[in-house]
Amino acid sequence: MYCQTSAELETFLLRAQKVTTEGEVAHYIPALKNVDKNTLAMSIYHGQNQCFTVGNTEHTFTLQSISKVLALALALMDHGQEVVFSKVGMEPTGDPFNSIAKLESTKTARPLNPMINAGALVVTSLIKGAGLQEKIGRLLSFVHEMTSAPERKYDEAVAMSEYHTAHLNRSLAYFLKQHKVIEDDIEELLELYCYQCAIEVTCYDLARIGAIFAREGQDPESGRTILPAHIARICKTFMVTCGMYNASGEFAIKVGIPAKSGVSGAIMASVPEWGGIGIFGPALDEKGNSIAGIHLLEMLSSNYELHIF
Ligand code: DON
Repeated sequence: MYCQTSAELETFLLRAQKVTTEGEVAHYIPALKNVDKNTLAMSIYHGQNQCFTVGNTEHTFTLQSISKVLALALALMDHGQEVVFSKVGMEPTGDPFNSIAKLESTKTARPLNPMINAGALVVTSLIKGAGLQEKIGRLLSFVHEMTSAPERKYDEAVAMSEYHTAHLNRSLAYFLKQHKVIEDDIEELLELYCYQCAIEVTCYDLARIGAIFAREGQDPESGRTILPAHIARICKTFMVTCGMYNASGEFAIKVGIPAKSGVSGAIMASVPEWGGIGIFGPALDEKGNSIAGIHLLEMLSSNYELHIF
């Protein structure tokens, strides 16, 4: 697809670029440190086939927590709502994304939602498949289907870098296994989760995925159903209530667009009936969200009246 540039979007990008110096790239996954924190890029997929792009959009980066939305959609298609929500809740936590605190104080040890790491590990354990390769293959095919890009792969170095340092995620997963919320072999589950988080995308891919959620699960070009409307709706609702972690409330008030961030500095936003937005800006704020990405979305929301509330 041909993507146009836009003088107005360039102005927004330059303005947002200034705040990248105030953020820091993620350090706790060693391989994520190897990126220039001033990088900033955005793609917008509008309507059926209009695309705009600004900044360093040639960069590929890893999905990280954005993969949680896609894994949730797959798990819901595999098992239905009743099974999935018997193991993971629907409520925001107000805690950091990797917090272990509420697991012990929640009676059933059921994680509060699928967007925090504990909940995401449960969701990943629900993806059907004969083994690790088949499960990661299903996730890659799903991303391929949504982006219509030639081939999908994960970044092996990022996946392994996370796998070998994921002590906190390991603790969450073993805690959940102890309480029978997770049944899988934990090391294999962690490997799958790290591969899932390390799936490579571009801003354009994220914008296109956002556009599919915006159109209730339909491919904007072909009209083909990629996921059922009620599942697209569930995912978008989680994006509003939990997508930006413990900044979700403030983001909903200031920006008002369903969005999901990842510690790679990516954001995937979905504006119902309008389109999708993909951003890559690896300098993060203290809550793990792209600092320039949030600025850009604030500008887009107010200039194009995208606030959904
Ligand atoms: O599990 C982790 O910590 C990472 N693979 C993903 C976390 C993440 O992206 C949080 N995002 N803001």
